[in-house]
Amino acid sequence: MIAIACDHAALDMKKSLMESFEKKDYTFKDFGCYDNKSVDYPDYAAAVAKSVASGECEKGILICGTGIGMSMAANKVKGIRCALCGDVFSAKATREHNDANVLAMGARVIGVGLAEMITDAFLSTPFSGEKRHQNRIDKITALEG
Ligand code: RB5
Repeated sequence: MIAIACDHAALDMKKSLMESFEKKDYTFKDFGCYDNKSVDYPDYAAAVAKSVASGECEKGILICGTGIGMSMAANKVKGIRCALCGDVFSAKATREHNDANVLAMGARVIGVGLAEMITDAFLSTPFSGEKRHQNRIDKITALEG
């Protein structure tokens, strides 16, 4: 199950991504927001990040204007490795190298077509499992204290 959320700046992009999930028969849970009313992105980042950290959802997608606020907030939740991506190479690499479990994107930065390609790359690329990458991830986890 994919967890997805946005703030008011990214509602249209989230709707497009959810339509593409439906076409691909991906199961997902929409954590909001649901209209254009101004909201606080940390609330939505927290909901998605906690659902991934708890194991309820396997991966998370967070979209705000820049993707920056969402990624900052999500990375405060223990167990979350949220990657802000604006290109397909980074989305693939962060799965292979960082085993990122949440993807953040900026709806005011990239278009819907690219966001879909980035999301596809993120969701379809496995972690490499290589020891050097696992060691580095373990060092990130150790920073959580
Ligand atoms: C909302 O105006 C904007 O600040 C938010 O979408 C995001 O870009 C924050 O990082």
